[in-house]
Amino acid sequence: MSDRLSMIDLFAGCGGMTVGFKREGFDPVMSVEWDRAAAATYAANFGEGHTHWGDIEKVPDSEIPPAQVIIGGPPCQGFSNLGSKDVDDPRNTLWKQYLRFVVKARPEVFVIENVERFSRASEFQLLLAEADHGMIKDYKLTPGVLLAADYGVAQRRPRTIVIGSRIGEIPLPKPTHAKVPTGELKPWETVRSRIAGIDPHPTTTELPDSTTEYFGERIRGEFKGTDIHFGRQPTAMSLERYDHIPPGGGRFNLPDHLLSRCWREKKTGTTDVMGRMRWDAPSLTIRTEFFKPEKGQYLHPQWEEDPERRVNRVITHYEASLLQDFPKEYLWCGSKTEIAKQIGNAVPSGLAAAIARHLKGYLN
Ligand SMILES: C[S@@+](CC[C@H](N)C(=O)[O-])C[C@H]1O[C@@H](n2cnc3c(N)ncnc32)[C@H](O)[C@@H]1O
Repeated sequence: MSDRLSMIDLFAGCGGMTVGFKREGFDPVMSVEWDRAAAATYAANFGEGHTHWGDIEKVPDSEIPPAQVIIGGPPCQGFSNLGSKDVDDPRNTLWKQYLRFVVKARPEVFVIENVERFSRASEFQLLLAEADHGMIKDYKLTPGVLLAADYGVAQRRPRTIVIGSRIGEIPLPKPTHAKVPTGELKPWETVRSRIAGIDPHPTTTELPDSTTEYFGERIRGEFKGTDIHFGRQPTAMSLERYDHIPPGGGRFNLPDHLLSRCWREKKTGTTDVMGRMRWDAPSLTIRTEFFKPEKGQYLHPQWEEDPERRVNRVITHYEASLLQDFPKEYLWCGSKTEIAKQIGNAVPSGLAAAIARHLKGYLN
């Protein structure tokens, strides 16, 4: 008899969360994702058979299998600092879909992952109301914000995690790593541990010209890590800017003549803009536009006094995937922007694995 556990991944993206759960002994029996490129990436790595490409609202109840665990995070749109409690808000329909799966599949436990400010969203109010007296009233909820770096991921990515359980309340997993380690805690993982040794000078700026069939249609891919290690063609002005920014620095290191008008006018805030990573610290959050240095701290960490030895570029898709904790051998489908979106949207597998490992101790 197999001692593996069954799970459903909703809003599965390219499968970041599934990577972590699978590593800890869970097997997906269904995944749902409507972005074709993301669903194809998921299928390339976990098989097309259980991958449902399409709108979650169109999945009939009769196709929802039983599972011990449901994971996933519906995209959150309804943020309201006023704390709207209108559970009939149409923006909540994706949440109702998540709950429909919980009611039908009857998992012992479900896990919701979302942006840090989720607790201020109207969807959070909906969830609390449904657990109190609605569709999932036999589940106890434990919400909290976890920092991926505290669970062995080389990234300071805060995420809201909610564990819902009908087998007794389950606390959130305890950190295993810390910035200043004490006792059994290990030090935070670093950018060096993930991307040192990767060719600092990519030889191409394009994806290979290949396609594969998924869901009866041709899609770009499947690409290996080395295929998504492509460079960009920055302007002379961009290169001059990158050159001035040391590790940990950003737009505030630029001389006046290299500042854009909006940076010159906005003297404070957005400190990670045009930032350069540090080798010996975790990265900051990798978002969907990590290939644009003006969007965050995405410049390659190698910066030395000798300009010849500097790596004057933004991280590649491959490096971003490794900082997001994808395995080196992960396969990718889609265009450059579609793949970047998949990477930036994902839950780092180390965080997902820490949650999965923790849940195993409670599951029957
Ligand atoms: C934050 S991403 C999920 C990331 C994923 N958990 C991972 O670890 O890689 C949310 C996903 O929900 C998908 N999505 C949004 N609305 C959907 C819908 N109505 N039906 C199915 N998928 C949907 C988006 O395309 C997106 O890929």
